[in-house]
Amino acid sequence: MKYYLDSAKLNEIDYAYKFYKIDGVTTNPNHIRNSGKPFLVAITGIANWIKENNLEGKDELGNELFPVSVEINPHLDNYQDMIVEARKIHEISPNFVIKIPCNLEGVKAAKLLEEEGIRTNVTLVFSPSQAIQVGRINARYVSPFIGWKEASGDDGIEYLKQIVKIYKEKGYKTEIICAAVRSGKQIAECAAMGADIITAGLAVYEDALLHPFTDFGLKKFQDAWDHTEGN
Ligand code: E4P
Repeated sequence: MKYYLDSAKLNEIDYAYKFYKIDGVTTNPNHIRNSGKPFLVAITGIANWIKENNLEGKDELGNELFPVSVEINPHLDNYQDMIVEARKIHEISPNFVIKIPCNLEGVKAAKLLEEEGIRTNVTLVFSPSQAIQVGRINARYVSPFIGWKEASGDDGIEYLKQIVKIYKEKGYKTEIICAAVRSGKQIAECAAMGADIITAGLAVYEDALLHPFTDFGLKKFQDAWDHTEGN
């Protein structure tokens, strides 16, 4: 089970890599805005960080050592322009996986980009039928938005379950990134459903490590330590 960090903030990426062993990063236009930097400055900073940490390139299976999903300009509305933009982004770092929206033009762009060797993460996926086409075109990743579904009152885990089942049965190689995961409960449910990857903000991963009984237990052990003769 891989953990990706959903962020474009370099200090967070660096911290989460050093201390939490994150396996990759996902960004989107919101995260770029929150980084406080213009798009090109933010992604070039991430590309440099990848190099400095000797993470540039691919492993023996041909997968990015440390994939970073970078989303194309969300205003692009035809597949030709999406492809031109994707190529430019990919030139900045070979680790960049191009995030493309799951709409009619986006899926065309993703298919053609995959055929030319530029890996894609088809994003904003909200139904199993969308996910099926993403698997059929052999995109590198599909991103069902679990947190957004749950926030709107839908059952995010049930739809994830369907996608995982279909992908297994059909033998699609596309890896499932559970996106916009908001809590430890969702992390555990996504893992139990057999998702390949989770992406979440740093605060979500940190909150998921806390439990009041751990603090309660620690306090008990501190008392025992303090009342042990000779300590
Ligand atoms: C994932 O790839 C998306 O960037 C992300 O999970 C969207 O979530 P957000 O609502 O935290 O921006």
